[in-house]
Amino acid sequence: MNLTLRIWRQSGPDAKGAMTTYEVTGISPDMSFLEMLDTLNEDLILRGETPVAFDHDCREGICGACGMVINGQAHGPERTTTCQLHMRHFSDGDTVDIEPWRAAAFPVVKDLVVDRSAFDRVIGSGGYITAPTGSAPDAHATPVPKDAADAAFEHAECIGCGACVAACPNGSAMLFTSAKVVHLNVLPQGGPERESRVLDMVDTMDAEGFGGCTNTGECATVCPKGIPLASITTMNREYLRALRKGA
Ligand code: FES
Repeated sequence: MNLTLRIWRQSGPDAKGAMTTYEVTGISPDMSFLEMLDTLNEDLILRGETPVAFDHDCREGICGACGMVINGQAHGPERTTTCQLHMRHFSDGDTVDIEPWRAAAFPVVKDLVVDRSAFDRVIGSGGYITAPTGSAPDAHATPVPKDAADAAFEHAECIGCGACVAACPNGSAMLFTSAKVVHLNVLPQGGPERESRVLDMVDTMDAEGFGGCTNTGECATVCPKGIPLASITTMNREYLRALRKGA
């Protein structure tokens, strides 16, 4: 199929960006969205033009690097990562708008690439557990209740792609931060930092310029890993509990 692409081009963080139109031809419905962009970039290189910069790594829906807004939706029309989106969701002759994540805390580096290091700083402020050095402990040395293990696994699925922030009208990172807080706070191993973790991670989230949550729920709608909206409620409860304890 043949497509018209309107892509955000921006040569650097301080440069003025604009939507630029390209035509791509011979796109297979079985291609991934990133393979379609590879095809465009091969054409651009052959024509002596600068290829479109976009982030990617695993191309398997694991690393979270490949975020972009496609026709106004974070990761496009399917609830998955951009690398797992396939061109069968588009039709011959379609016009497709492709933009970077739009959020104050995710400044554009180039074209479709944004700086998501604010997420790293949120994790660095509390997304860890106290781990004694030495040899690995025996398996099951710390019993973990089944419901706690299930909740931890559910929240640990967050890949930090940033779609939740991009979809939120406030640019809020509450879903991301709550996934990281809850997945450790529900485990016995996360107990020693339970209070400081939630307070520090929420403080860092606010300091990084993410907006507040007004319960629009867009974040959970686009999350490719299905992190539930209720995670935010759990984090708010953990936050109030920590304040009450005077941590
Ligand atoms: S490239 Fe890793 S999740 Fe898409």
